[in-house]
Amino acid sequence: MASSTSATSCPCLLLTLLVLLLLMVMARRADASAVFAGLSFESPGEAEAFEDALLRQACVNVSFLSGGRDREACVSRLDTARGGAGSGPVPVLRAALRDTLGEAVGAVRAVRGLASLSNRPREEMAVRDCVELLGYSVDELGWALDAMAETDTETDASGGGSAARRAEDDLHAWLSAALGNQDTCVEGFHGTDGRLLHRVEAAVAQLTQLVSNLLAMHKRLRSITPLLHHGPPTNKNNGTSGGGAGDELPPWVMDIEVDDGDKQDQDEEELVAKRARAGRVSTRVDVVVAQDGSGRYRTVSEAVARAPNHSKRKYVIYVKRGVYHENVEVRKKKTNIVIVGEGMGETVISGSRSFSSGWTTFRSATFAVAGAGFVARDLTFRNTAGPAAHQAVALRVDSDRSAFFRVAVEGHQDTLYAHSLRQLYRDCRVAGTVDFVFGNGIVVVQRSLVATLPLAPGQTGSVTAQGRKDPNQNTGFSFHGCVVEGKYPTYLGRPWKPFSRVVVMESYLGPGIQARGWLEWAAAGSGDHSTGLATLFYGEYKNYGPGAGVAGRVKWPGYHVIMDAAVASRFTVRRFIDGLAWLPGTGITFTADLFRK
Ligand SMILES: *[C@@H]1O[C@H](CO)[C@@H](O)[C@H](O)[C@H]1NC(C)=O
Ligand SMILES: *[C@@H]1O[C@H](CO)[C@@H](O)[C@H](O)[C@H]1NC(C)=O
Ligand SMILES: *[C@@H]1O[C@H](CO)[C@@H](O)[C@H](O)[C@H]1NC(C)=O
Repeated sequence: MASSTSATSCPCLLLTLLVLLLLMVMARRADASAVFAGLSFESPGEAEAFEDALLRQACVNVSFLSGGRDREACVSRLDTARGGAGSGPVPVLRAALRDTLGEAVGAVRAVRGLASLSNRPREEMAVRDCVELLGYSVDELGWALDAMAETDTETDASGGGSAARRAEDDLHAWLSAALGNQDTCVEGFHGTDGRLLHRVEAAVAQLTQLVSNLLAMHKRLRSITPLLHHGPPTNKNNGTSGGGAGDELPPWVMDIEVDDGDKQDQDEEELVAKRARAGRVSTRVDVVVAQDGSGRYRTVSEAVARAPNHSKRKYVIYVKRGVYHENVEVRKKKTNIVIVGEGMGETVISGSRSFSSGWTTFRSATFAVAGAGFVARDLTFRNTAGPAAHQAVALRVDSDRSAFFRVAVEGHQDTLYAHSLRQLYRDCRVAGTVDFVFGNGIVVVQRSLVATLPLAPGQTGSVTAQGRKDPNQNTGFSFHGCVVEGKYPTYLGRPWKPFSRVVVMESYLGPGIQARGWLEWAAAGSGDHSTGLATLFYGEYKNYGPGAGVAGRVKWPGYHVIMDAAVASRFTVRRFIDGLAWLPGTGITFTADLFRK
């Protein structure tokens, strides 16, 4: 078990010394770090005890890190790396983070090495998915490390506090994401004979444990960070009800509202010229995609492939009406891509991959986006595999701070894979049958239509299958002000993983919503029916409509009828996805808080 990863995570002595030196230099800068600043202890003894506990937390269950050494070796290694006792708790987290990043890099190498051992298509695909997923973890851990290296330049206490709080939230989001990727990797081997599966599990187990330890450390640090850092953000733009965008609306958003009449004849130059005439030259449509050849590209994939890498500004791809039969991937390095269509049902990106036809769930997506800062509006993502094809994803999202506005997501089972990181869906339509909103992102679905479709024989409908697996992840799904239509029988959700978290607030629940509301994960199968029922968090707050009565709801310890607005407000755009920090820049309308206080 151990040898496959330990070999890759044990660099030569010289390299180790260099890394240690680097860490010690970084540790010297620790006092100035923006995150978890202002920690204070009653006595040096108390500080030391806290640091010591943190060190031990970093090494929980670490048995085969660095060439087979045990937990004590892990502790002493981190102790050296952080610059010795008295350097403060933050350097401990940083040193552990650096080790974990090294482990992630090693895991990518180990899994890539397994590719040659298989010649079965499903297994090969699963290995490729895995390499990509572990690559996400490497990035996310890298972002976390960078955030911790940033020094706090603000001296103003409140401003600095708010920046620190945001940085801590970012860390939390990235660590939460880095935990889940390994599971998705392993799940990709479902439907194979399991020979490679065991080797892959062995290659990623240590990484998962280390990230879980980091999340526990994050929680400890957060619990002793002064409250000053946790107050409401002092951001001037408070994006209140309905008009969150307000003056922040980038000019191009209004430019898109072109009248329908002459759209077919417009070519790219005309669109650009129209914007110039309107005096809005600073932002623009960068390229136009049109099937009739009137744009620069005929396919969305081509436009995405030619988009700049690592863009810091929004890069706008305008997709004219038509059904585009494509599977599109917006990869990690394609950051800040904006895709604008001509309306839901007008601009449609359509595919038909499914688990039944040989794809992993992950790779079945018609449209998959990992590049951070993605925005989509006025179009449809569709998977046409049908109700009996099992998992068939229309849209998969691993884009941090991504937003979807007036977007339809259409499929049956597993339609919307909100896989990881922070996402907003506003004025959208999501349709499906089984587990059709699933994954482990940090997600708000706001003022959207959630529509159930007829089930295939033997199926039980469920809107969500939320996959939070660790109590320290800040992930979950919040449905706020939605219409859960429920024309066909459905449950609101079932716990895919033990700490599954879903809240439904201020929403209309239609007649098809079953009186029990929620379903056990294994209800239809032979597994343990009680899995997660005490540890999950399902909540309903001020819903209405024929399916909203809570009298007949499940009596699980983890189910809550939320009465307290303070609890519900933890799941708003403002609090749950820190929307005020990034949504104003997208030009998308949103509501920051609860509709009714
Ligand atoms: C340690 O590993 C064991 C076996 O994998 C697991 O059951 C346990 O939950 C882990 N403990 C922690 C604190 O992560
Ligand atoms: C936030 O919005 C409220 C009204 O919803 C307003 O009274 C308040 O002044 C705003 N705060 C700031 C800082 O703009
Ligand atoms: C983006 O990077 C890839 C290599 O990773 C390169 O082939 C491609 O030309 C780059 N695209 C642009 C637009 O720079």
